[in-house]
Amino acid sequence: MQHVKLGDLEVSRIGLGAMGMSHGYTGAGSDDAESIRTIHRALDLGVNFLDTAEIYGPFTNEELVGRAIRGRRDEVVLATKFGLVSHAGGGPRHLDSSPANIRTAVEGSLRRLGTDHIDLYYQHRVDPDTPIEDTVGTLAELVAEGKVGHIGLSEAGVGTIRRAHAVHPVTALQSEYSLWTRDPEDGVLPLLRELGIGFVPYSPLGRGFLTGTIRSTDHFDTTDFRATNPRFTGENFRRNLRIADEVVGVATEVGATPAQVALAWLLARGEDIVPIPGTKRVARVEENAAAVRVELTTEQLAQLDALTPAAGTHHNEEQMRLIGR
Ligand SMILES: NC(=O)c1ccc[n+]([C@@H]2O[C@H](COP(=O)([O-])OP(=O)(O)OC[C@H]3O[C@@H](n4cnc5c(N)ncnc54)[C@H](OP(=O)(O)O)[C@@H]3O)[C@@H](O)[C@H]2O)c1
Repeated sequence: MQHVKLGDLEVSRIGLGAMGMSHGYTGAGSDDAESIRTIHRALDLGVNFLDTAEIYGPFTNEELVGRAIRGRRDEVVLATKFGLVSHAGGGPRHLDSSPANIRTAVEGSLRRLGTDHIDLYYQHRVDPDTPIEDTVGTLAELVAEGKVGHIGLSEAGVGTIRRAHAVHPVTALQSEYSLWTRDPEDGVLPLLRELGIGFVPYSPLGRGFLTGTIRSTDHFDTTDFRATNPRFTGENFRRNLRIADEVVGVATEVGATPAQVALAWLLARGEDIVPIPGTKRVARVEENAAAVRVELTTEQLAQLDALTPAAGTHHNEEQMRLIGR
């Protein structure tokens, strides 16, 4: 496994998103033993950049990751997130990046993860009620105390990124980016490059869609985010199948799987881009890690750049309001 740098943090060329092991997708939480084997296999393959968050579960995903890395903490670059659980009474899904909430959140995350430090601690969503300077000021204190190694933001807009970076160096921004979600290319990616901030694309497989394995949404259970995601519903879903078919077409030509092609396209966009595909299965973490060896030709990259644009926004309305602020 190759290594690259997000800011000054060295990570494997590809990471592993742990969310779906406990949260958000059909089957989450149904087989913790396989999820733990998946994390172990990732580490064995050199995929050391693990991604979780306090809100996943809530809390159970950090506990699972903590169990999986017990005895192997030194091999891991551990990333988690705060800000979508308000500990002052609001609970899960309430934005709170106030200094007091961060102080409570970090102690919980450290305990559940079974560690005394988090390598990369992200604000999960910008909190309009707390100036970003106050949030980052508290994170800088946690860095000084050794509880946090590096700080990150998720789905922040350009103005917020600049203001945050002026208080303390931001190591990485984590936002949705993939073959069918290219929003960061306009303003965010150029700014990150200007400031030397790394980029971590989440949902790099389009929540599984780009792998070509989702041909119907009938099997989604009611807790599955995709059941209310505009791209996976009604006529949009039917139209979007063409995109999956186009990725499968390129993959056949490349001699790789569609998931590998979706990841190889992201890797080809720069060494400052480190995708974190999510899976709870050993076989798929092996497949996804092997994407680092997939080379796409100029023609294949151009074909992928020209995919049919997606029908529907990449989040539902409520979620869309929380991003890019
Ligand atoms: N910052 C944020 O706001 C935010 C938001 C969403 C996600 N994230 C992070 O980003 C990570 C990745 O995003 P994501 O999980 O939403 O989406 P993703 O990585 O685009 O796709 C995950 C889905 O694809 C399936 N999958 C994975 N590898 C596959 C393969 N090789 N072939 C076929 N299917 C495959 C997984 O199913 P199986 O698990 O059954 O294999 C899962 O349903 C998350 O785990 C989380 O850590 C962050």
